[in-house]
Formats: sequence, structure tokens, C-alpha cells
Amino acid sequence: MKTAAQTAFQNDASAGTPVKPAGPAAGPTAAQAKAVADQPDVGTYPFIDPQNGVIVEAAAAAAGAGPASDAAPAAGAGQLSRRSFIKAAAATVAATAAAASVLGLGASLSACASDTSTGSGSDTSTDSGTSASSDSGTSASASSGTTPTAAPTAETASNFNTVPNSITTVGDTYANLLSALEGETTANAKYAAFAQAASDAGFAQIARLFNCTAAAEQVHIDLEYNVAIGLDSSTQKPTAPSIQTYSTDVNLIIAANGEIYETSDMYTSFIATAIAEGNSDAELVFTRAKLAEAYHAERYLDAYNNIDAPDDDKFYLCPVCGYIHKGEDFTACPICKTIKSKFTAY
Ligand SMILES: [Fe+2]
Ligand SMILES: [Fe+2]
Repeated sequence: MKTAAQTAFQNDASAGTPVKPAGPAAGPTAAQAKAVADQPDVGTYPFIDPQNGVIVEAAAAAAGAGPASDAAPAAGAGQLSRRSFIKAAAATVAATAAAASVLGLGASLSACASDTSTGSGSDTSTDSGTSASSDSGTSASASSGTTPTAAPTAETASNFNTVPNSITTVGDTYANLLSALEGETTANAKYAAFAQAASDAGFAQIARLFNCTAAAEQVHIDLEYNVAIGLDSSTQKPTAPSIQTYSTDVNLIIAANGEIYETSDMYTSFIATAIAEGNSDAELVFTRAKLAEAYHAERYLDAYNNIDAPDDDKFYLCPVCGYIHKGEDFTACPICKTIKSKFTAY
């Protein structure tokens, strides 16, 4: 059975099942988009298949169900359910699917920014970070001074909802830890390969970002492994798969898609299970990873949008939770409150 992480990273074509990056021909034409817009809006769910630009239409299950209805369409012969279609679309790296995910990220990041603004470690605050100054910044233990007393949690933040039509296979918390370890290990290897590709192509700043984020995923690996071996001392770290690389712009979108999946689907699902099981250690590491992944996605999308306008900014990695900041304008981690001087610059 595939783990959630396997599914996720096959979705972005980096786990040994390369998928040709979508070119212009894969997207819908203006005429196709208009044809969809002109579809009757009662009882059907028209879509454009991002793999081939073909208009797909699925009948609604209930007569009279409009396009805004959440009623599940029937998935009979010749029909494609909304859920099946979305799953199929998610299995590509088509730009259409990426754009949809980006839209989802916007709301998530807005909520996150709002949440962290009330914390003492907000990026733009004048906080001196002195509340964490006595901390070594190298441990995520409960006794650490970086314990996020004001950091976002599933109970206090508004961006921990699980996405509809989740593609995550959720097990018990130990199984979820193994799945997360596999995903983070793949991400670590993927970003190292993407960093080399970016460097080879002359994108020096993006190469630094990929290397910084690879190190962030290693932070998550270590956090999750420590919780996993507490549940089963025989736990082994997974082996990284071979990685296929593409052009750097496509690599950035693949990376952003993986981060968006993890922050909005995988970790939110795993956090809910950890809470239900009363496993506070797992809840904490999944929460820190979930929050960091949203920032990772933000960094990747910013790099994508400014790929031809690099600057000299450094990237700073929080060694405790994997948060990444671009530039100098921060004093402490918005997730775990570790002070800037403990960060690693890339
Ligand atoms: Fe990440
Ligand atoms: Fe942090």
C-alpha cells in the first residue's frame, strides 16, 4: 500500500515516476475555456482536463443539482466524479493544477500571517527576541525556551483545517510518522538535486534556497524520527529515492506543490490524528512542520515569480523547526520563537 508521502511525491513526479512537465499544449485554449464557461450549469460539472485540454463533463447525482452544489456527482460508465477528476488532476504537474494549489495557499498564508502577528516573534515586529535568548536553539524538547507558548496551534490558529478530497492515507500516529519521514526524506533529496540543477543553470540564489530548504526538511526528519523511535525503538530512517530534475522554474513549482500538499493536507490530517490519540509530541512536531512548509511554499513561489530578478538576500534557517526567512528583517522565528542569532544563513 502506498503511503501518503509516496502518493504526494509521485504527484510531483519526483519519486521515480517522472512525469513530463506540462508544456503550453497541455493547457486549455481560450476557446476551450469559453466552451466550458458556456456549458449548461444545471446538473453537470464541466472541467478541462489539465493533461490534455479536453473538456470533461460529469453528470450530477441528483437532478437539479447546480454547479455550486456539493452533491457528489455519480461516477458511472462514461462519467467522471468531481473527486476522481481532482485526484487525476493532482497526479500531474500541469500548470493548471499548480495554479489551483497556489490559490489555496494564498488563503492559508494569509491566515498564518494573521495568526503570527499576535506572537512575539512576528517577522516585522520590533520584538527583541530576548524571551528566547537563554535558549540554546538546538533542541525541540518541551523544556526548551523555544517552546512556542504563543505560536500557532491547531487549537488557536485558523489554518489547520483539512482540505476536502484529501489524498492523504491516514493511519495511526506511528504510521503517520513513517509516512512523514518518507516524504521529508524525499523532499530533502529532491531539493538537493534541484539546488545542483539551479546552480548549473546559473540561478545562484535559487540554489541557495533549495539547499536551505533541504536542510529544513532534515530538521523535520530529525524531529519526526525522535518521536517515532519513542514509539518503536527499531524504527529505521527511510532511504532517499533517485530524483529527476527539470528546468529550474518547473522545479520550483514542483517543490511548491509538494509543500502546499504537506501543509494543507498531509500534516493537517496527521495533526488531527495526533490530537485524537493524545500524542502531544507528535502533535508538536507535525505542527511545526506544517507551519514551516507553508513558508517554504511561499519562498518557492516568490523565487518563481522573481526568477529573472534575483537579489542578494540571504535565506535564514531556523534550526529548531525548519522555518525559512528571506532577508534580514526579523528577530525570531514566528513558529517556535528561536532568536535570529541561532539561525543558519544560506
Ligand atoms: Fe518543506
Ligand atoms: Fe523555528
